[in-house]
Amino acid sequence: MLGRMDTAVDVIRAKRDGRALSDDQIRWFIDAYTRGEVAHEQASALCMAIFFRGMGARELSAWTDAMIASGGRLDLSGVGRPCVDKHSTGGVGDKISLPLCPLVAACGVAVPQLSGRGLGHTGGTLDKLEAIPGFRTALGTAEFVAQLRDVGAAICAAGDDLAPADRLLYALRDVTATVESIPLIASSIMSKKIAEGTDGLVLDVKVGEGAFMTDRGRAEELARTMVRLGSDHGVRAVAVLTGMDAPLGCAVGNALEVAESVDVLAGGGPDDVREVTLALAGEMLALAGVDADPARALDDGRAMDAWRALVRAQGGDPDASLPVARLAHDVASERDGVVARIHALPVGVAAWRAGAGRARKEDPVSPGAGVTLHVSEGQRVTRGQRVATLHADNETLLQAGLAAFTGAVDVGTGPASSAPRVIARVTS
Ligand code: URA
Repeated sequence: MLGRMDTAVDVIRAKRDGRALSDDQIRWFIDAYTRGEVAHEQASALCMAIFFRGMGARELSAWTDAMIASGGRLDLSGVGRPCVDKHSTGGVGDKISLPLCPLVAACGVAVPQLSGRGLGHTGGTLDKLEAIPGFRTALGTAEFVAQLRDVGAAICAAGDDLAPADRLLYALRDVTATVESIPLIASSIMSKKIAEGTDGLVLDVKVGEGAFMTDRGRAEELARTMVRLGSDHGVRAVAVLTGMDAPLGCAVGNALEVAESVDVLAGGGPDDVREVTLALAGEMLALAGVDADPARALDDGRAMDAWRALVRAQGGDPDASLPVARLAHDVASERDGVVARIHALPVGVAAWRAGAGRARKEDPVSPGAGVTLHVSEGQRVTRGQRVATLHADNETLLQAGLAAFTGAVDVGTGPASSAPRVIARVTS
């Protein structure tokens, strides 16, 4: 129970001094903050105390519970088949949801994906889909459930009632240097995914220089924490650690990534995008207990049919031409040699600066902007050979993208050291 004199200050002080919060303290604080009774500066102070002191497993479970309870939880029982979603912690060129959702739907498992927009150097699934002429990312709950029943997959924006406490806390954390806390990240991601009503969840935890987590140990800890929160709340979860030192695939930018995803759905596309798509699809089908071969569904056109149905159901035209940026500028290799590394971070920042991403969540994005890579690690190149193309809508954005791209492609004389994409698997 909350003591009669317990206030926000008492809760902050308890955590500041390293004491575990009670379930009642947590429930009260999150609820009062969501209703506007606890001030932003008090919630900021508590986030900072959690950043330094952490949270035990029981506390984190109660914290996540309170975040879920700050809004509604979707009921997907009307879908009529198992529902399994995936979440990625975000990376450069990470377009995996686009081929993955229709692929898994084509294998008989529904994918209820409530997704987000990009911020900074990692892109957002909704921004990519909105590059398709006519595509609507705002669906009502009834429409979302009907589409899951009829098409098997829906990808749209989360409504205002989904874990509203997270929306408030995330905005605060963004401006108080408290984003990089494992309990706060895990509860933020899992509260939204659990509230979405999915039966199972595959977490793609990216690790490497272009990811949120640059360190493998911390990525594994985040993965374990999220998987445990899933099982605490009745959602079967598995995490896959995937490498993000190099961009995923050859396309970075909204329309460019849609085009590359369509290539994968047609049975082609870059090997690494296909590899991660199939690995995650296999995990999603296993969670649902469905014995199907996702590679066959990619190669025989069933995944493409499901993609076209998804795009049409959300108002898009799967046959429409995708937007193209006004300017395209080739970047050439300065020497003969072998591509030793392609660095995800400068590639992601270049695409962002060229107009594909946003610095503030209100900013618009350019659908055609981004980077196309023409070489891969280990490939031999000659001086003057085109290694990448930058796409932007005006000269200022193009020059900003080019400046950020400096050093993105290392050409050396020795062998390349490209690592496998799928690194490890974390289960409960
Ligand atoms: N993504 C989220 O949804 N929340 C975090 O805290 C970090 C990444």
